[in-house]
Amino acid sequence: MIPSLDVEHLRTLFPALQRTVAGRPVAHLDGPGGTQVPQTVIDAMSECLSRGVSNSGGAFVASAEADELVEGARSAVADLVGGDRSEIVFGQNMTSLTFSASRAIAREWKPGDEVVVTSLDHDANVSPWRLAAEDRGAQVRVADIDPEDGTLDLESLDGAIGERTRLVAVTAASNALGTVTPLTDIVEMAHRVGALVFVDAVHYSAHRISDVRALGADFLAASAYKFFGPHTGLLWGKAEHLDRLTPYKVVPAPGSGPGKWETGTQAFESLAGVGGAVDYLAALGNGATRRERLESAFEAIRAHEDSLAERFLAGIAEMPGVTVYGVADGARLDERAPTFAVDVAGVTAREAAAEMGRRGIFVWDGHYYAVAVMQRLDLAARGGLVRIGFVHYNTPEEVDRVLAALDDISRS
Ligand SMILES: Cc1ncc(COP(=O)(O)O)c(C=O)c1O
Repeated sequence: MIPSLDVEHLRTLFPALQRTVAGRPVAHLDGPGGTQVPQTVIDAMSECLSRGVSNSGGAFVASAEADELVEGARSAVADLVGGDRSEIVFGQNMTSLTFSASRAIAREWKPGDEVVVTSLDHDANVSPWRLAAEDRGAQVRVADIDPEDGTLDLESLDGAIGERTRLVAVTAASNALGTVTPLTDIVEMAHRVGALVFVDAVHYSAHRISDVRALGADFLAASAYKFFGPHTGLLWGKAEHLDRLTPYKVVPAPGSGPGKWETGTQAFESLAGVGGAVDYLAALGNGATRRERLESAFEAIRAHEDSLAERFLAGIAEMPGVTVYGVADGARLDERAPTFAVDVAGVTAREAAAEMGRRGIFVWDGHYYAVAVMQRLDLAARGGLVRIGFVHYNTPEEVDRVLAALDDISRS
């Protein structure tokens, strides 16, 4: 049975959601740019610092605790993505992890090899591969989107993949249009020619649970600050790749295991928060193991988010002055996350976002680093779009508030 979310209660667990601006409660609809954190995450981080944390690898208790903490965070993330804890690598953020992974992966490429990126992706899953390809004399091919509904054009992707493709870099969900991609098909297409698949699950992770084993992907990257945790990046890599490949590293760093892929000292207090975020999510579901609780929690999250998305799309359909980009059909919610890039007639995205900000509604504007999407839709030159992102702590009242504000701004 799908548990239902007690949203009113869970909102009380997030101090930031209690904030007001100009006498009005803040509606945090900026989740795609970073989510707020529950008190348990704050407590886990502050306890780590107040108890005292030493560097890892020493012969005394505070150091052993740091090692335990890292292992605890690896286990938590392994449960979240469906991998093994020996396959979880931490780093500053997804972008820096992807840059360093791209260097290691590209060491196996030869001149004339090819790498495929998509115009749906955040630039953090494009530029690292373009630059690595440049270093190795490899070619970059770009898979297109269908501009009508913002879905990935699978024919274009199939055409871009060839015998010399070494890697396909693809997002699990677009941080601009909300599009969820058919990853199983994409992995199958890439593996048919022996190419690796690097999945960007940064946006996806707030909305759906990954299962890297079932998917058969090779790498998957995410960022805890997008799923109710602190600002730390994470990378899952299939054990055989982590073992085989040689990342750039300092000599004394571990020569095997995930430590081989981690540069310098980890942010231990952040890792305490990463474990706290996974445990917060697991507590929203039920089951015998943490993985089962996470699976059930994400079913509940999905049901709630879908009801918000349906409400939002139904409201927008009544507003001639507001255009949604991406899948706009309420019957196709399995193809999107509740993240909506919209154009508001008569104002720039920045003006609309600023006006909503004055009303206590926090939304993003611009390209949000999804530059290829905005270029493809011909929106880059005019300042991109307003992005309204719902996560599980948002409410139907907040949907109504943002709809009323959009209507008002588009008419003024
Ligand atoms: C889809 C997507 N990929 C990658 C990133 C980059 O993540 P990070 O800030 O952890 O480098 C973001 C950040 O907005 C994103 O939304």
